Parts: sequence; structure tokens; C-alpha cells
Amino acid sequence: MDQLVIEGGHPLKGTIRISGAKNAALPILAATLLTGGTFRLRNIPKLLDIDTFIELLTDLGSRVRYNSDNGSDLCIDSSDLSDHEAPYKLVRRMRASILVLGPLIARLGRARVSLPGGCAIGARPIDFHLKGLELMGVNLQLKEGYVEARTRGLTGARIYFDIPSVTGTENLMMAGVLARGTSVLVNAAREPEVVTLGQMLSHMGAKIRGLGSSTIEIEGVKELRPVDWEIIPDRIEAGTYMMAPGAAGGRLIIKDVITGHLEAVISKLRSTGLQIDTDKTSISIKNRGTLRSVDVKTLPYPGFPTDLQAQIMVLMSLASGLSVITETIFENRFMHVAELRRLGADIRIEGRNAIIKGVRRLNGAPVMATDLRASASLVLAGLAARGTTTISGVHHLDRGYECMEQKLAAVNAKITREKRV
Ligand code: EPU
Repeated sequence: MDQLVIEGGHPLKGTIRISGAKNAALPILAATLLTGGTFRLRNIPKLLDIDTFIELLTDLGSRVRYNSDNGSDLCIDSSDLSDHEAPYKLVRRMRASILVLGPLIARLGRARVSLPGGCAIGARPIDFHLKGLELMGVNLQLKEGYVEARTRGLTGARIYFDIPSVTGTENLMMAGVLARGTSVLVNAAREPEVVTLGQMLSHMGAKIRGLGSSTIEIEGVKELRPVDWEIIPDRIEAGTYMMAPGAAGGRLIIKDVITGHLEAVISKLRSTGLQIDTDKTSISIKNRGTLRSVDVKTLPYPGFPTDLQAQIMVLMSLASGLSVITETIFENRFMHVAELRRLGADIRIEGRNAIIKGVRRLNGAPVMATDLRASASLVLAGLAARGTTTISGVHHLDRGYECMEQKLAAVNAKITREKRV
């Protein structure tokens, strides 16, 4: 297993370009199952999760190839699907495999998808996905760890989410586009990744209203067509790098972003005392010397994202005073706390709150990555810490950050990857 070695304390300077968003690309890849013909997808990030999803599509019978002129362009043709099963070996590696359920049932009238288990950040059930499909006329059976879904034809339904679910909204939207009649998703997710999927489906011929609001209306159509589509920039990757000057000092310019997707993050980071200047597609962040404590509560979009909770905790560990970070989305997303403590952070957990008392400095130590965003927080902590931090379990990072160590090394971070066999 590879590990990252970081020598902390070097202020950052330069520009980082943001890649396509993992969590936008995955549902868009799933949407190519909805119809035959060739899709061309641009700005696909090079990530382990994307490779896993491509493996899944290929298993189902899609033909997938990268455009040789440009390593981030994919052509996908799902004209001849030969299977309707997402096997345990792939779902176990990536929960987002569940996103094939909606498109497969809509296109083929049947699907067999392994149930994802719990994961490092919480139990993460899929009951909203299943309840919604049942309301649309799908017969579901749970057998040997698999959901077996069958329908003689999807019908539109009114579906209420107890909590706005990102992949739940995406799955049901993809089922609804080919259903008979109108579906209404109430208390739906409003994340930019949901909106861009809905826009792509509309471009394919779907009739969708209310994207970006909490009520989405989908009028089913008989047919869809393949399209060319560009993946939006990754707001979580951008947010992670926006915090890096807060940890290591210095100034960064983050390019190729949609600034409007980062309003909550910009506002929070400004409150910590970081100087932030923006235009539509780039953000400049400068550390002016001291960080102030702020309280943070994770919320569905447009609130502060849970996917940046671990990263902002690093800044609060170095800020003056006391802050409270409340995680309201996932019940177990504090695995990074024990590792940050190994670097000298003063953090106490009380239920869903982390109470952080800023310390003057962190000190390098060996730490262990436990999940994707926790790993990113350890990288930020390593950049801030005095001495050397060695992070093992780096495969978690490779799932969701394209070329992280190259991007950071190019802006003066002292970070290298040690290959372990
Ligand atoms: N929930 C249920 N039942 C369901 C679905 C969700 O109770 O059927 C609960 C979850 O347990 C959680 C809340 O609803 O408490 C919201 O979860 P959501 O369904 O929105 O999460 P998700 O769709 O599984 C996506 C991202 C996550 C991100 C969350 C929240 C993808 C592929 N994954 O997950 O990304 O944290 O939304 O924004 O889009 C990551 O990239 O590191 C990551 C974990």
C-alpha cells in the first residue's frame, strides 16, 4: 500500500486547477444506461471510483473507451446491455454503484444490485431509494444480500424524502424520466451534482422542472437520446485546496471552479480571517497570519458540506479559541479526530459535536487514513505540522482526489508518495 510523506511548514504559493467532480461524474455515467447510442463525456476525473464505475458499466455490457487525444473524454455506448446485475465485488468497493438501480429498472424493467453495507462514515441505508421505486410500481425482493427489482412498467408517483438524499434523488430522477406519467420528488436534494444530472437528462429529452429546488417534477417520456456532456468542477476538491493556505500559510489561486457552488465555504472561511477574492471561475485565498475560531454545522446544500467537515476541523485545530463542529448528515463521520489528536490537535467528541480548542502548532507523526475526506484532512494537517507526517491508507484519497500530491507539490508543498508493494 502506498503512503504519503509530508514535511510540513512550507507556505503555499501558486495556482491549482480543479478537476471534474467525482460525485457529478458517477450519476452521469449511470445515466448512460438509460438509452443506446454514443454518449461523449468530457472532463472525467482520473479516479479509482471512476475506474470502478467503468468496470461496472462494462460488466453490464456498455462499451466504454477513452478518447485517445484527451485522457479525460469518454465515449460510452450502452446499446447492447447483456446483464442487469451490480455484483457484490464492485458494490463493496464503491457504494455509488447503487446508482445503476434506477436506470436499469427504467430501461430493462429489471435489476439485481448487491446491497451496500455500512461504511466508515455511517450505516448509510438505501431505504429511500427502495421506497421510491416501490411507489413507482417496482416489485422488490431482498435475496442473499441482493435487491432484486422487477416491474412491468414504471408509473409516476409522488415521493417524499424524510431527509434530502443526493443519490436517492438521482436514482429516482433517472427512474422517473422513462416512467408513465408524472413523478414528484418532495424534499429532494438540491446539490449542484443533482442539478447537472437533471440538466443532462433534460438535454437527452427528459421533461424535468424544479431542479435546484426541493420539489422536482418529472414527466416521463417514451424515449431518450445520447448526448455530449461536460462534468462540472469538483466543489469538494476546490474547498479542500481552499483550506490549504489556512493550514500551511501562503496564498493559492484555485482555478476552473464554479464559485457559486462554494458560497457556504467562502463565507465560513472568510469568518476565520482568510482573505478571499473571487470571480466566477477562480478563487484566491491568502492567509493573513491568524485564524479565528468559527462554529460549523454540516447541512444539505446550500449549507456547509459534510464532505468538507474533516478539512475545516484542521483549520479549527490551529485557530485561536474554541469552536464547535456539528455533523448532522452522517452519524459516524469523526474517524479523523483520533488521527488529528496524534498530531497534537485538542478535540473532544460529544455526540454529533466536535469541540475543538485551537493549539499553537501540530507536530508530524505517522497517521492512518480511514475514508476519503478524512484522508484529505490528514494531508492538510501534515502540511501544517512541524516535522514529517506519514499517511498510510492512501488508496482512500485516490478514490476522490485526482493527482493530489502532484497538484500540491506544484505549489510548494513538500509531499511525496512512497510506493509500497
Ligand atoms: N439516508 C437514509 N436513507 C436513504 C438514503 C440516505 O437514511 O435511503 C440518509 C443518510 O444516511 C444520510 C442522509 O440521508 O444521513 C444523506 O445521505 P445521502 O443519501 O445524501 O448521501 P449519499 O447520496 O449516499 C452523497 C455523496 C457523499 C456525500 C453525501 C452528502 C455521492 C456518490 N456521494 O452520498 O459523498 O457525503 O451525498 O452530501 O454523491 C464523498 O464524496 O466523500 C461522499 C461520501
